[in-house]
Amino acid sequence: MKDKLQAIKDEALAQIEKAVDLDRLNDVRVSFLGKKGQLTSVLKSMKEVAPEDRPAFGQLVNEARAQIERVLEETKEKLEQQAMEHRLKEEVIDVTLPAKKNNVGHRHPNTIAREEVERIFIGMGYEVVEGPEVEYDLYNFEKLNIPANHPAKDEQDTFYVTKDIVLRTQTSPVQARIMEKGELPIRVIAPGRVFRSDEVDATHSPSFHQIEGLVVDKNITFADLKGTLEQFAKELFGENTKTKFRPHHFPFTEPSAEMDVSCFKCGGKGCRFCKGEGWIEILGCGMVHPHVFEMCGIDPEVYTGFAFGVGLERIALLKYEIDDMRLLYENDARFLKQF
Ligand code: DAH
Repeated sequence: MKDKLQAIKDEALAQIEKAVDLDRLNDVRVSFLGKKGQLTSVLKSMKEVAPEDRPAFGQLVNEARAQIERVLEETKEKLEQQAMEHRLKEEVIDVTLPAKKNNVGHRHPNTIAREEVERIFIGMGYEVVEGPEVEYDLYNFEKLNIPANHPAKDEQDTFYVTKDIVLRTQTSPVQARIMEKGELPIRVIAPGRVFRSDEVDATHSPSFHQIEGLVVDKNITFADLKGTLEQFAKELFGENTKTKFRPHHFPFTEPSAEMDVSCFKCGGKGCRFCKGEGWIEILGCGMVHPHVFEMCGIDPEVYTGFAFGVGLERIALLKYEIDDMRLLYENDARFLKQF
């Protein structure tokens, strides 16, 4: 019996030493110390031992058990330590590796241009307002002195939602909406999206942006219009920019003009950029038509005012020397991040 016990103990210790991981070590524990384990079965066969030898043999079994348990515990700690070291080695972070670059977004050239125009006019005391993109025919045409059969309606063909509702062709309807509110004086700009049923090419798009301007007060004259827009042109294109006003026609202003700025590339001598002209057309403007005032509930005998409308894309294209409007809408990040 004693020899058997010794053999079991030796075998247990040998197997513990061979155990390469914690699972294997647990198997060893179960096969020797478990309910059906080898050491447990020795205890069960105690009846084969002479009664007088039983206490001493029991003592031996307990000692063997204690020794196996101790070695098991030590080995377990050793294997746990090894496993931890192994994991630390596996999961090492190389802080010298180059970091993944985060792609930070970028403001669109249109947005940059709009914010620049807003900054200039806010500096002159203007308020920035907005109007709806889906607009009544009444505001988009009628109240701007463009009645049903007016030829100007042909030039601004658009998308009709119903007979009376259109996608606005210009930001000018915001003028009528603001004037109708009757809070005078008025000094606003109104940036926003407009629509026309144009074919897409380098200079046309069925959807683009304008910035409208409107000033209404007592004693506003064409000199105020000129002074304001000259200042605007200088701030936008540089201190040396000259302006030129050419007579034009818009149904809702009288008199009306188009403003050109001296080419900021060649200074007015004529170059490829200004197509040899020395001047670049920038915006439409004029004194608010008395009939428009009347339709919007303002007395033209008391109040006068001026208005202007400028294409936002046109400014972005000029400022950044982009020669195809379509690039602004493709939203290719490689293009956009240049500005
Ligand atoms: N709405 C005009 C257009 O789209 C531009 C314009 C011209 C606006 C003269 C104005 C203005 O306010 O006074 O062609």
